[in-house]
Amino acid sequence: MNFKLVIAMVRSVKQGPLIVNGNWYNYPYLYDIFSRAEDYTENCINIIEKFVLDKNFKIINPIDLGSGTGKLYDQLLKKITVEGNIYLVDKNKNMVNYLKRNISSSNVKIIEAEIEKVQVAKSNFIIASFAFPSNLLDKNKILNELKNIYKHLLNDGVLITIGWNEKWDDEFFELWKKYLNVDYSKDILMTRNCNLTWLKDDINSKVKFSNIADRNKVLGSFFGYKFISDYKNSDKLEWNIRMGITLNTKKEIKKIIDDWEMIL
Ligand SMILES: C[S@@+](CC[C@H](N)C(=O)[O-])C[C@H]1O[C@@H](n2cnc3c(N)ncnc32)[C@H](O)[C@@H]1O
Repeated sequence: MNFKLVIAMVRSVKQGPLIVNGNWYNYPYLYDIFSRAEDYTENCINIIEKFVLDKNFKIINPIDLGSGTGKLYDQLLKKITVEGNIYLVDKNKNMVNYLKRNISSSNVKIIEAEIEKVQVAKSNFIIASFAFPSNLLDKNKILNELKNIYKHLLNDGVLITIGWNEKWDDEFFELWKKYLNVDYSKDILMTRNCNLTWLKDDINSKVKFSNIADRNKVLGSFFGYKFISDYKNSDKLEWNIRMGITLNTKKEIKKIIDDWEMIL
């Protein structure tokens, strides 16, 4: 087993679930196994790719916010025709180093920055997978992130987000509730907690691991050692997850910001 993965597992046993306080992002090798397991059939990517093709959307300077280990780049951005650069933005140094080690294309710019502060070229395609908003519960941060996204959007630009469908009732979210004591159903009352618009809701997918060793090292570290003891006699490798994609134009983002500022 990779040395870094062993360290991550030992830490999770000592400190509890790595998901707490975003510690899981410090382990890109571990995170990458999780990221590839999540929607491994690429249902969401296929929907977005179809949208781009159907609309004959000419993408300029795409920006992937919270790019993690680069799943969106691999599955989408490097496959479609793009004018200008591709910007991969993440605030975590370990993620950024991982991206730099693994991607060396001259039109890819890897930027270590926060979504609310990043400064890159204007774009007509800003996308985030499980990364916008960076904190679903922090309204001020969400507003600042939206403002920076608005600033970066060209007039024909869109913001696309991939994430949970926000019904919080799928099998995978049950793990969040059980091991992390999280329940968003009372706190998240609008899409992505800022009134974005669903392009497609209720996309049925799966989080699926290739083998029990991967399942245990990833979910055991992320959810804590209790997960491993609960699943020690189980050969379960996949969990149902229900996902959703939002899509908003620049004009719609402006309206969300204006409406919000009026009530603050
Ligand atoms: C849940 S992961 C998603 C990674 C990737 N998009 C994927 O789908 O596999 C969220 C990523 O966003 C990054 N992140 C968290 N807060 C951020 C912020 N405020 N600004 C930029 N990146 C952030 C984390 O470091 C992490 O890599």
